[in-house]
Amino acid sequence: MTEKELCQKAMDMLARSYSPYSHFAVGAALECEDGTVFTGCNIENAAFSPTVCAERTAIFKAVSEGYTKFRRIAIAGSSEDFCVPCGVCRQVIREFAPELEIICLNNKGEAKHFTLPQLLPHGFGGEFL
Ligand code: THU
Repeated sequence: MTEKELCQKAMDMLARSYSPYSHFAVGAALECEDGTVFTGCNIENAAFSPTVCAERTAIFKAVSEGYTKFRRIAIAGSSEDFCVPCGVCRQVIREFAPELEIICLNNKGEAKHFTLPQLLPHGFGGEFL
């Protein structure tokens, strides 16, 4: 899949966002090493803390289907800012893909590229335990 196609999948997921409280829709598309793509959206909750981000939805869908090796993730935001992953999502990415390529999109479909080490330097992982 091309980067453009992956980004389009993330943007398509904005329509699935369940975000009645923040009104901040997020979509994600996670590409596995074998090319399989899992998508996700943010899913909010009236109690707030059970809310799950789009990135974690996509990652947990993948892991629950037996996929744990990832190549890149596209994250689509619904504002003019590039949607960077929150700290919790960075840590979840660190668990499975310490070198992951992260493509952050704004609502114009413009992209900024990062790697996880850029967004989470000195991250904590299983090798410390
Ligand atoms: N959100 C994501 O889905 N991903 C991020 O990385 C940033 C935040 C969601 C969570 C919540 O539903 C809304 O955006 C506002 O924080």
